[in-house]
Formats: sequence, C-alpha cells, structure tokens
Amino acid sequence: MSAVAARSRRSVLAVPGSNPRFIDKARGLPVDAFFLDLEDAVASAEKENAREAAVAALNEGGWEGRIRTVRVNDLTTAWTYRDVITVVEGAGANLDCLVLPKVTSASQVRWLDILLTQIERAVGLEPGRIGIEAQIEDARGLIDVDDIAAASPRLESLVYGPADFMASINMKTLVVGEQPQGYDTGDAYHYILMRILMAARANGLQAIDGPYLQVRDVDAFRRSAGRTAALGFDGKWVLHPAQVDAANEIYAPGQDDYDHAELILDAYDHATRVQRRGAVMLGDEMLDEASRKMALVVAAKGRAAGM
Ligand code: GLV
Ligand code: MG
Repeated sequence: MSAVAARSRRSVLAVPGSNPRFIDKARGLPVDAFFLDLEDAVASAEKENAREAAVAALNEGGWEGRIRTVRVNDLTTAWTYRDVITVVEGAGANLDCLVLPKVTSASQVRWLDILLTQIERAVGLEPGRIGIEAQIEDARGLIDVDDIAAASPRLESLVYGPADFMASINMKTLVVGEQPQGYDTGDAYHYILMRILMAARANGLQAIDGPYLQVRDVDAFRRSAGRTAALGFDGKWVLHPAQVDAANEIYAPGQDDYDHAELILDAYDHATRVQRRGAVMLGDEMLDEASRKMALVVAAKGRAAGM
C-alpha cells in the first residue's frame, strides 16, 4: 500500500469527465478525493473527448489537498488500454490513482499494474507512484475479492459499486442503496459489504462505499452512509454538493469519540511506559492493549480528517 492510502477518503466526488461545467464546479468542493469519470457517466460518442478533457483538467490544477483520480473503462470494452495510456502519459505527474471498474479477477489488476509500470518508465515518473482503486460490482468480483485485494502493491482501496452490483445479481429494485421491497429480515447488503471490508482490511486497503443516487434526499444519504461508516468503511462516493458535508462528517469520528480516543491513548501510554502496567482504569473503564488499538483507529481517522 503506498503512502497516500493513509490519506482520508471520507468523500469521493464523481465528476463526469466530459462535462467542463461539472469539472469546474468540482474544484470548489471540500472533498477528500475526486475521480474524473471516463466510464458510465460518459456516453460512448464522448469517450475520446472525455480522455482529453480529463488530461487537461488534471494539468490545469486547482485540486490542492485532494486525491486526484480518473476512472477508466472496464476491461470488457475496447477503451481501457487507450484510457490508461492517454491519461497517464498526458497527466501522470498530476494523477494519484486510477479507478478500475467492474473488476472480476486479480489478473485484471495485474494487467493495470504492468501497464502503469511501463508508462511510468517511458515518461520518467517515479516507479509505482500511480495507485489503483478496484471497484467490486458483481458476483464474480465478490467471489474473487480476496485475490483481487492482494493483486498489486499499488492497490489503495476496494470500492463497492452498488448500482452495477444490484443489477448483476438481479435484485428486484430500482432504488440504489435502499433495501429491496419485500426483504424485511435485515440488511440485504450486509454480506456484500462485509466481504469487501474483510478483503480490504486483510490487505491493508481502504474500503469505500459507492454512490447514493437520490441526490436531493440528504437524510437518506446520511442513513446509507451511516450504515457503512458504522461497519468501518472509510468513505463514500458523493454525486452532488449536498452530499459532501454529510460524508465528511459521517466518516470522521464525532468530536467526543475523538477526544476520548486521544485520552485513552495518553492514559494507556502512561500506564505501560511509566507504570509498566498492561491494564489500567480510566474512570470506570478498564483499558488494555486491545483498547489502545480501538482508540488508535478512531484517533487516526480523526487526525486524518484534521481534528
Ligand atoms: C458505481 O459504479 C455503481 O455501479 O454503483
Ligand atoms: Mg458501476
């Protein structure tokens, strides 16, 4: 995992690569990361223009402090190799990651890794500087998710693609992210989300939730984001300015939890180093090494979010 993976990805903005107005607007949004989309938000006839627009937008700059990403087309299309070559040759110095959608096997990630290595050598970029984010969007990808997550040291995150996933398993609903009608015995997405989260964590990757398409319903976005944040996901795609603040808030710890986590770290550090004790009381709470690890997770998310 490269160093940038430790950076916050609470909000990941989807920006259609073929739409200059959206690209301009995106520069002003306080997101942690964004991707210029060459895939499903771009019509077939616009694919080539979108590549050039993405290169220009990256090189023009104005993205300070944000993770700069492009989503290429998936490997069943004729576009992928040219997407990668055009974008990385044209703007590799201003690009942090590529998103590879609809990943169904580890070999697809390895293909991208090898191609990136060749381009980095050819244009004199630091070897390995471009990271990879793999979208898991169908049953095949989920079945192979452990191998996919271990396929390359360039991998920084696994991204759940709910819309494609729901379509691919024939889910009987049209509302992305909401429970399918008729299923009232729990969360229909729990298995998928946990499978992705386990594969990500077992390989030191971030786990990112996909989009919520009812963009004006911010309360529903908050509920959807709140569920994956509670499981441990690191962030979520946002499609609209109204979703940005909610994502930044929901995937960071609350101020009380963050303060408490720092307190636990200080108290446990004092206990182990100064008093040489492995277990200690903080108020009514018994702390041990496992408490320190839990506190470290919350504190790290808070620090990455600038708390
Ligand atoms: C995103 O790519 C999705 O399919 O939900
Ligand atoms: Mg998709």
